[in-house]
Amino acid sequence: MTITNDDELAGMQAIGRIVANTMHGMARAMEPGMTTRELDSIGRAMLEAAGARSAPEVTYGFPGATCISVNEEIAHGIPGARVLAAGDLVNIDVSAEKDGYFADTGATFRLGAVRPALERLCRDGERAMAAGIAEVGHGKPLAGIGNAVGRFAKKRGYTLIRNLASHGVGRALHEEPGEVPTWPNRDRRTVHRGLVLTVEPFLSLGGQMARQGRDGWTLFSAPVAPVVQYEHTVVATDRAAIVVTLPD
Ligand code: CO
Ligand code: CO
Repeated sequence: MTITNDDELAGMQAIGRIVANTMHGMARAMEPGMTTRELDSIGRAMLEAAGARSAPEVTYGFPGATCISVNEEIAHGIPGARVLAAGDLVNIDVSAEKDGYFADTGATFRLGAVRPALERLCRDGERAMAAGIAEVGHGKPLAGIGNAVGRFAKKRGYTLIRNLASHGVGRALHEEPGEVPTWPNRDRRTVHRGLVLTVEPFLSLGGQMARQGRDGWTLFSAPVAPVVQYEHTVVATDRAAIVVTLPD
């Protein structure tokens, strides 16, 4: 969507806060021995308590309130019987709707200590997202986002998943301007004032593409490699972008 007044910004900030609080609440509740279904139930309860509805559920009939992707799963993991263990990388992606506004956030969390290469990957995943967000501004090329992420990834020796794009969001989970690449690209479009979009690069130690698993939802890395994703919903302005998916 394109925000044109303060009420619309307040609506986006309200749902942004809800999805951020839900994601961080789930991350705090996560512990070894818990199933991803139990973790999802915590998220569902938090969304319901805030008067919000799961966006993937209402939009696509996704079988869960949130997407939980563990280790070799990189996105759209279905909550279920999988048991979390110390040392896991757990991606929690929460998107939801309230009062007609949709926001989307995600992050990869470490369950206990993980090996140093994965620690570094997580830290740099957040920095890759920040590099992309820094390019969101009125009149700037949309391609600037992916090109900045690409420069960061190259400098630090990472690969990027090149078929899982960021996207417009706001009045729907996925909407205009459609897919926004987070890898080097020659997209000719321009960012405009008030545009609401996600910035969610998938940074990896060798992964190039996402491929769909047999359940029809879960995405895996090809070639097989660790992948992290960090995602905010942001609003373009004449200056720095406004991040709406911030927790209390
Ligand atoms: Co998301
Ligand atoms: Co998204």
